[in-house]
Amino acid sequence: MTLSDDKNWWRTAAVYQIYPRSFADANGDGIGDLNGITSRVDYLAQLGVDAVWLSPFYPSALADGGYDVDDHRDVDPRLGTLADFDRLVAALHGAGIRVIVDIVPNHTGSGHKWFREALASPRGSAARDRYVFLDGLGDDADQPPSDWGAAFGGNVWEPVGDGQFYLHLFAREQPDLNWANREVRDDFLKTLRFWADRGVDGFRVDVAMALAKDLTARPLPSAAELERIGPGPDHPYTDRDEVHEIFREWRAVLDSYDPPRPAVGEVWVDDPARRVLYALSSELGQAFNFDLLRADWSAEAFRAVVARNLQLAAAAGSSSTWVFSNHDVVRAASRLALPAAGGGDASYARDDAWLQSGGLTPAIDPAEGLARARAAALFMLALPGSAYLYQGEELGLPEVVEIPPAARQDPTFHRTGGATIGRDGARVPLPWSEEGPSFGFGSGPAHLPQPDYFQTYAASRQDGVAGSTLELYRAALRLREALRADESLAWVDDADLPGDVLAFSRGNGWRCYSNFGAAPAVLPPGRVLICSDPAGVGAKRELPGNATAWLACG
Ligand code: GLC
Ligand code: CA
Repeated sequence: MTLSDDKNWWRTAAVYQIYPRSFADANGDGIGDLNGITSRVDYLAQLGVDAVWLSPFYPSALADGGYDVDDHRDVDPRLGTLADFDRLVAALHGAGIRVIVDIVPNHTGSGHKWFREALASPRGSAARDRYVFLDGLGDDADQPPSDWGAAFGGNVWEPVGDGQFYLHLFAREQPDLNWANREVRDDFLKTLRFWADRGVDGFRVDVAMALAKDLTARPLPSAAELERIGPGPDHPYTDRDEVHEIFREWRAVLDSYDPPRPAVGEVWVDDPARRVLYALSSELGQAFNFDLLRADWSAEAFRAVVARNLQLAAAAGSSSTWVFSNHDVVRAASRLALPAAGGGDASYARDDAWLQSGGLTPAIDPAEGLARARAAALFMLALPGSAYLYQGEELGLPEVVEIPPAARQDPTFHRTGGATIGRDGARVPLPWSEEGPSFGFGSGPAHLPQPDYFQTYAASRQDGVAGSTLELYRAALRLREALRADESLAWVDDADLPGDVLAFSRGNGWRCYSNFGAAPAVLPPGRVLICSDPAGVGAKRELPGNATAWLACG
């Protein structure tokens, strides 16, 4: 296989997210590495994905699983070397798979040479200007400049001992960069070129909406006021208008390559009209929407999400992105078994509460969760746009709830004293085979403990087994090729179908039917191409509950 020469490959790509530390460990130290990924390129090719997105593999103290980057243009020695990276890219390209890397521009790790220099330099110095330092409040300047809460708990301001504080929207080991500083801007342009020159095909941009900041107001607004202000031009750091100047500069660099490099922004902005600005072709090209992963399991909710996002993407001249799972959320095979929450933040609160109860309250039915996750995957893979898959979902992995506190790594767990459980349960190393100390992940134990039941999900156990989740994904990804040429979608409103069934047709005449209810629904005529339920669509043409099928009609 070679890479296609389609410049628009990203518009309809199936992108497989790899969290490198938990994918495959080639040297047996318990940590997944680049050579581990290279050893699994055949698996990725057989799965049939168009691209992989590598979560950060850069030097890092791992205060936030690698999203605390100490050097944006190198490989963490525990994960390999730049030469290993080049070999990985060559192997993936040789298999026809493109490579997307993660750029983390909002902050560095606290071990970055710039941050060490800033700490060693006086207030007002050029070194401090690369970050966001402010004087403390009060007579002794020992009070933080504002009461804002950090994403992983605690205050966003950290004192440095000389009356100044630095800003960290995330963990204390993730100091925010000052994007008004030209040197910061130039350095990231250099980083984009560095990876594009090494053959990287695209970029995922971490917390894209937070780069531009204006903290000049005195006093700074309170946390309560921030809530009222909301994202947008008046917010000190979320979705300010100047952020778009930054991405227009990036686009000039990305367009200097042949083919132009696409980028997808992680944009936590609810107002769709503003989110879409990041996706313009003069900027990143695509923006994640996380609406499906926050949607309740219902035909109505899914239809609304899809309709809205297709319209938005079209308005931006982009294609939509679809996501059910990533390294930050409860795995879909568990999440979709939880009761409806009404979407949005309420669904996160529900997921957090469930994790907090150790996965006990409410009790979920894992079989139902898996059935829905499989149906959701088939639904997503039938949509126009690009589908982002997260390692392990093709095995049907559930969220791991039984990680002992001492083994937990997510900073949010530690910074909240365990009140927020965090994301480790979605980051447990993959089970490749039924045997071995880490089910084939590596030759020794894995850095996060795998539960014994992971054995039943092992890739080797599903390989070639009809009806397995792995074979379902492989078959769907193969069939999906036929859906590429035409990005249109039309809803099928058929009065004969129960209200729990959502159906749409694609440009090539195929139809996708998803049954969100529990009772079987009778399908109209048409050849069944694939069904997410291992029982399939029988002679009575019944689509089981919690299932999706694709039909070739007409
Ligand atoms: C993004 C990443 C998340 C990380 C955070 C801070 O949301 O997906 O994993 O913790 O940014 O970099
Ligand atoms: Ca390793």
